[in-house]
Amino acid sequence: MNFFKLEINLIFKFVALTVTLFFSSISHSAEGGPCKDYGECDVFKYSLNDIESLQRGAATYINYCYGCHSLKYSRWGRVASDLQIPEDIFFENLVFDKSIKPGDLMTGSMPEEESAKWFGVAPPDLTLVSRYKGDDWIYSYLRAYYEDASKQYGVNNLVYPGTAMPNVLMALQGNQRLVCKDIPVLAKNGGEKRDDQGNTITKEKCGFLEVEEGTGALNKEEFDSLIYDLTNFLVYVGEPIKATRERIGWYVVFYFLIFTALSSLLYREFHKDYNMKKGKA
Ligand code: HEC
Repeated sequence: MNFFKLEINLIFKFVALTVTLFFSSISHSAEGGPCKDYGECDVFKYSLNDIESLQRGAATYINYCYGCHSLKYSRWGRVASDLQIPEDIFFENLVFDKSIKPGDLMTGSMPEEESAKWFGVAPPDLTLVSRYKGDDWIYSYLRAYYEDASKQYGVNNLVYPGTAMPNVLMALQGNQRLVCKDIPVLAKNGGEKRDDQGNTITKEKCGFLEVEEGTGALNKEEFDSLIYDLTNFLVYVGEPIKATRERIGWYVVFYFLIFTALSSLLYREFHKDYNMKKGKA
């Protein structure tokens, strides 16, 4: 009986916890989204088995980000071997300080107090940024800079309004601006509203990001794919074992399936004996 009470108690606690979590997640999502003025963050799907994407991401990171942002929980040699880059090629092309050894942590090249003076905030270490900000957030953030003359660097960001980080990829993306567009007004049934002459009724809406043509070295697809690789790399750095963990997860599930099948066969075998003995008695 006691055992039964314990079970009821546990089930009750479990239900209470589920309900609490459910409501806290609802109230959280009502707080005006993590991507702020951008609206919903763009969805990011990492692909950690795409080694070439990770290699490109690492190269972009070291060339454009490492000057300000350390990755102090990872080591040079580990990144080289995980990304299947031969150590000599890696060190020759991506490690600019020749005194660095493969076992060294990627502690960055900028003294923290100096950078805090320059930017007002020290650029944070980014090893774990994909874990606490989320990959969707990073992917959106790096593509949401726009021209804003009122700011220190002449740019602002929709995802992180007032960010202290300059738009370091502007030469690649080009000059992105907030523009207004005439958008068709939708009727209640979801179709476009038209006036008596059959012309679509439009309304001016502002806040669209648009790159000034010819100002960047990359076009939109190329730039998005550069940021994809960069974000993918940050997901990898946040948990280098992730791809392996997910692969092993499937083996474990597979193992349990086989194990369940075998144990159920064994059960049947034992049960036969048991029935036989009962029959004899
Ligand atoms: C010139 C220095 C500089 C460079 C180069 C730079 N950043 Fe930053 N970054 C900063 C500063 C300063 C902040 C802090 C912004 C703030 O909190 O207002 C920041 C913040 C960030 C954040 C938000 C982190 C957080 O915890 O809020 C991310 C993500 C980020 N940077 C990614 C990058 C990536 C990716 C690159 C390379 C493409 C890069 N940064 C290059 C200076 C830099």
